[in-house]
Amino acid sequence: MPDTRPHKILLTGATGYIGRRLKDRLLKRKEISLRLLVRNKNKVRPDVLEKVDVIEGDTFNQEALEDAVRDIDVAYYLIHSMGSGGDFENLDRTSAENFRSACIKAGVKRIIYLGGLGIKNTASKHLLSRIETGEILSSQPDAIQTFWFRAGVIIGSGSASFEIIYNLVHKLPAMVTPTWVRTKTQPIGVEDVVNYLEQAATLSADQPNLTIDIGTSPMSFQEMMLAAAKVMGLRRFLFPVPVLSPKLSSYWLIFFTPIPYKMAGALVEGLKSETLVLNNNAELYFPDIRPRNYEEVVAEAIREIEKDQVLSRWCDSSANASCDIKYQDDTRSAILRDIRKVPLNGLEPQQVFQSACTIGGKTGWYTYNILWQIRGFIDKMVGGYGLNRGRRTLHNLRVGDSLDFWKVVDIKENRRLLLLAQMKVPGKAWLEFDIQDNVLIQTAHFFPRGILGRLYWYSVVPLHNLVFSNLAKKIVEHAQDTHTEK
Ligand SMILES: NC(=O)c1ccc[n+]([C@@H]2O[C@H](COP(=O)([O-])OP(=O)(O)OC[C@H]3O[C@@H](n4cnc5c(N)ncnc54)[C@H](OP(=O)(O)O)[C@@H]3O)[C@@H](O)[C@H]2O)c1
Repeated sequence: MPDTRPHKILLTGATGYIGRRLKDRLLKRKEISLRLLVRNKNKVRPDVLEKVDVIEGDTFNQEALEDAVRDIDVAYYLIHSMGSGGDFENLDRTSAENFRSACIKAGVKRIIYLGGLGIKNTASKHLLSRIETGEILSSQPDAIQTFWFRAGVIIGSGSASFEIIYNLVHKLPAMVTPTWVRTKTQPIGVEDVVNYLEQAATLSADQPNLTIDIGTSPMSFQEMMLAAAKVMGLRRFLFPVPVLSPKLSSYWLIFFTPIPYKMAGALVEGLKSETLVLNNNAELYFPDIRPRNYEEVVAEAIREIEKDQVLSRWCDSSANASCDIKYQDDTRSAILRDIRKVPLNGLEPQQVFQSACTIGGKTGWYTYNILWQIRGFIDKMVGGYGLNRGRRTLHNLRVGDSLDFWKVVDIKENRRLLLLAQMKVPGKAWLEFDIQDNVLIQTAHFFPRGILGRLYWYSVVPLHNLVFSNLAKKIVEHAQDTHTEK
């Protein structure tokens, strides 16, 4: 029975892949008053900031945690530290302990957590940490109730697993496949995951804790690729070989998909053992939710990409110990600059700003795209993101979006777009588009790291003269063309 009384809800991870989608859902529920705990307030859209209470901080900051859980009925825990390097298990442990203690102290009634499917003795390091997080959160059932959801592969536009499948199927007519692609898991669509999480906030359940395994029919990664190919109207051939190690598979994945090496490795490790649903609590407690089958979910994800409606992506957030773009919107520390100025030619700042916001991804960089591609390839070779990540949508940007090997770190509507370089460079680099007094000012800022940084900057000056000389001009021309077409 759903509980329809007003609820005060805390959502953590609201800038992440699952949390962003859940936030949009919860915002539609009138009986819910929503608070977010985020590491960087700038990543929350201005229109959302007007509707929710936002606490800036993280689960390692006691004061912020106490503020976040005060007067809260239900608290979502959608956080992980995977990707923080060797220390992620300790960070995850401390984070979960801090969260549980703060919730108990504040009298929160329920914690809702989403972890992974799988069992301890076959789990990968990352999955083990997810299991440990669930155990910590649910370790005091007399003091607080915990709903622990466990999902395997999550499929949806922007999910890492879907982008791997989509890119491999799209780009490769035939593939040699290692043994791990035949291990079974139970995939589930992201919107169904969000349905469960949303309903869990208002579900009345008397027992202290619940573990709820969610997923559709068992499938292997190989079956998922072939089924996705069918949905995409493609014929694909997979040839099994017993020799491709997870490490080799990860190298393979970084060249054909947008996923970076560390993440690919973690996903492949996770798929080496079966991850299956072990209880029927999803049907028992959420009888109204009928998860859509894999093919429907893939078709929906493709539709969202085609309609340019991808709500969130695996690369929106950082699993580092701190937010990857916090305090990165100030370029004053840069000491080397490449500045280009182009008049707006009678166009409105808004038109030119919109044009600047479409660069990268499928649109490309207007001039010398081949040079950008070579730079992207070099970046991939040295362990960076390269250009493969593209962008979440063709036309809109928000703070935190990835854009090829850049990240959006500041947007001042119709005035300033600031990108932070996430490519491998010996220093710190930004690319800024600033509109002032009817002029578009494009600046590449660079803070060199030591002598190598300076050598790098001066060695790329001839290339900058090619790629940057016309970029701002082309942005204005593109704005002009779009304006004329209308
Ligand atoms: N995505 C999947 O395919 C999948 C599959 C199965 C299970 N799950 C589970 O679902 C949960 C959410 O995953 P996700 O994919 O949405 O993660 P995600 O996209 O990486 O987002 C993680 C979120 O946590 C925030 N965060 C990280 N450390 C924090 C801290 N110490 N304090 C406060 N906020 C912190 C991040 O903030 P910033 O934006 O500042 O970085 C971000 O909002 C995880 O428990 C994961 O295991 C996910």
